[in-house]
Amino acid sequence: MEQRAFSRLAVSAAAALLALTTACTGGTVQGRPGASGLRDPYFPKAGNGGYRVDHYALDLDYDPADGQLHGTAVITARAEQGLSSFNLDFSGLKVEEVTVQGAGARYNRTGNELTVRPAEDLKKGEVFVTEVDYAGKPKTLVDPDQSKEGWITTGKDGAVGVGEPVGSMTWFPGNHHPSDKAAYDITITVPKGYEAVSNGELRTRTDLADGRTEFAWHSPEPMASYLATAVIGRYKVTTGRTPSGVALYTAVAPGEAAASAAPLARLPEMVEWGSGRFGPYPFGTAGAVVLPAGTLAYALETQTKPVFSGAPEEDELVLHELAHQWFGNSVSPKSWKDMWLNEGFAVYAEWLWAEDHGGPTAQQHFDAFLAGDTEVDDHADSDWDAFPPADPPGPEDISGNPVYYRGAMVLHRVRQEVGDEKFFALLRGWAADHRHANASTADFTAYAQEKTGHDLRKVWDVWLYGKARPR
Ligand code: TRP
Ligand code: ZN
Repeated sequence: MEQRAFSRLAVSAAAALLALTTACTGGTVQGRPGASGLRDPYFPKAGNGGYRVDHYALDLDYDPADGQLHGTAVITARAEQGLSSFNLDFSGLKVEEVTVQGAGARYNRTGNELTVRPAEDLKKGEVFVTEVDYAGKPKTLVDPDQSKEGWITTGKDGAVGVGEPVGSMTWFPGNHHPSDKAAYDITITVPKGYEAVSNGELRTRTDLADGRTEFAWHSPEPMASYLATAVIGRYKVTTGRTPSGVALYTAVAPGEAAASAAPLARLPEMVEWGSGRFGPYPFGTAGAVVLPAGTLAYALETQTKPVFSGAPEEDELVLHELAHQWFGNSVSPKSWKDMWLNEGFAVYAEWLWAEDHGGPTAQQHFDAFLAGDTEVDDHADSDWDAFPPADPPGPEDISGNPVYYRGAMVLHRVRQEVGDEKFFALLRGWAADHRHANASTADFTAYAQEKTGHDLRKVWDVWLYGKARPR
């Protein structure tokens, strides 16, 4: 399912090195350390080199009374080089034990890097299983843009784990960069009376003999770790199906139930609408979690179940997070520089939804931004023109207004150039061709030109990369 690029040169160089080390050591394979980061332009230490993860099995045991988390992460990965050691991103919490292929492994920690040294070196191409047992009170991170992520307590006795862009490392060790997507099984055990919600499908809910309840959540489709979530607390759960049969699961904080009813009631219709506009819904399940108001300063498109902080005040916010399931979650960014591929598309989806439901047209939204007209859109007089969407100045800008609104304007400029028929075929083609994979801005511009047959270089130069405010 996943696309993995191998460079021929790297493969043959590694083979030569392997032959050399085998010759020197008389048969023992000698690895070298995997890189401690993937050199993301904004978060250089996020992710790690030398392996890719296929599957995470997370077993999380949470006690709301004292905020303690006990976790076991079983990570199945494939070595992309011979490895004498490799890193996981992990922040806070105490590591109790690490094994690789069932054998005790040595480890050490510096900053947010957990370096694991297996008892035996791993061979290139080897599939290996790492288990990390850990415990403690997970911490909240403050991002470069001052927003909070990681592990956040909710109300008087709940908690939520979220991770855009790097906060998932506060609640499980992993390869925390969006370029390495994997399947997940997240099992959460909580005292009886609490709900525990995560991505994907609830496979089992088991009342244990010790008075606790275990929730086993299954996510078969690839997921970037920043889209993982774990929600614990007292929630009202509703299940259902969309008209075309996608399973729905919503969990709403009791105090938000009345205000959430109307916006969440439109979710089935929105899934159907999105499937028409963008192609089949990419996941087996859909839904939402409404956290107690004030938990977060934002909503997040956590895979299959976006989280909202308090009842969504507008249908457009529900639509925005749903649109990310195609754009961001199924088609994921290759690096944090490519955020406009998430946010520009999700905002443009809001404009399309309005256009299809008696609101302003996308053209009217576009014009409103150029004119700074807040009658049509509250954000029209924001600093949407402050920097080019494909090149945020720093990590604090990856969720800045230009990424969202000028990003959406880029798409509208493409639509103006190519016309509706080609434009909607482009949106569907993009979602289909990169389904459950990763893509960059350069991938998009090349794809758009090829798919539509138009020379769009001026649009890219002025709207996507140009520093000046476009006219
Ligand atoms: N992605 C969220 C949205 O749907 C916003 C957001 C929250 C975000 N935290 C972030 C974006 C960190 C980038 C980085 O709009
Ligand atoms: Zn968004």
